[in-house]
Amino acid sequence: MPGIPDVHARLSADPPARVADVACGAGWSSIGIARAYPKARVDGFDLDEASVALARANVAEAGLADRVDIAVRDAGDSTLAGRYDLVTIFEALHDMSQPVEVLRRARGLLVEGGSVIVVDERVAETFTAPGDTIERLMYGFSVLCCLPAGLADQPSAATGTVMRPGTLRRYALEAGFRDVEILPISSDLFRFYRLRVGS
Ligand SMILES: C[S@@+](CC[C@H](N)C(=O)[O-])C[C@H]1O[C@@H](n2cnc3c(N)ncnc32)[C@H](O)[C@@H]1O
Repeated sequence: MPGIPDVHARLSADPPARVADVACGAGWSSIGIARAYPKARVDGFDLDEASVALARANVAEAGLADRVDIAVRDAGDSTLAGRYDLVTIFEALHDMSQPVEVLRRARGLLVEGGSVIVVDERVAETFTAPGDTIERLMYGFSVLCCLPAGLADQPSAATGTVMRPGTLRRYALEAGFRDVEILPISSDLFRFYRLRVGS
């Protein structure tokens, strides 16, 4: 987050910022954000009850239960409500059967000037054969895990782990975002996207 100066400033400021960590899994990203920003309040959501139970235990063990709340929620649920300065989706959008709907809900959670940050795999921008090591690794995960998981719920966009920047941009624009920026945050495995509503 320090690499995104205005988000860093808001998370550090008063009144305390609110963060929605969508598809929080075992809660590590929610915990990481709350640890880094002692004023911020984080609501983590995940569809999977076992992950939510684990996340709650992890949050309690980290001593953050007063600022991090974890709940079982479907990110595409039309009753998802709240006003958040930041919505994060770490390594999960490609798993979702309805990514456009989820991004539309995420957009609806933002306060004016708020942002959605999506972190997903740093796969190649276009398909090439043979792919590099990351492509092959991610296609392996996709075929064996993420794609079947995303297809279990129908209808499905069937994205899979190899979600290229062009695919995310299409989903974001369909969901009503104005623009998608690839953030200059260096990582071998992950690409950081900022989805913007306004200017
Ligand atoms: C690969 S895990 C990532 C978890 C966490 N964000 C992390 O980075 O460790 C993907 C998560 O997305 C969750 N998920 C998938 N579809 C979802 C949906 N429609 N609503 C909420 N969570 C969802 C899964 O239950 C799983 O915990």
